[in-house]
Amino acid sequence: PEVTYVQPDGTARTVDATVGHSLMQVALDHGVDGIVAECGGNAMCATCHVYVDPARLDDLEPLCSDEEEMLDCTASPRAATSRLSCQLPVTEGLDGLVLRLPEEQL
Ligand code: FES
Repeated sequence: PEVTYVQPDGTARTVDATVGHSLMQVALDHGVDGIVAECGGNAMCATCHVYVDPARLDDLEPLCSDEEEMLDCTASPRAATSRLSCQLPVTEGLDGLVLRLPEEQL
């Protein structure tokens, strides 16, 4: 599935995401800037924060309680569409998904 990461300045990068990897891992693997992922994907750092296309929120894994708590610790403001990309496994159903990266992760 193709996933697009959009930087705060509007620069977009579409990559071929591997099913089963997290959207955090996909960004790192493709050298997409703007994801820090300090905790390595354990929902403990909030530096893999992304804003998801609101129309696609229902296509994603539901929020778990760890992610819910960490989303209150993001460096950039939390929005209704905020998620931690390490908690979002890639599925075929995510094809065409657009993620916006926040201004800051730290
Ligand atoms: Fe730390 Fe996602 S990588 S919360």
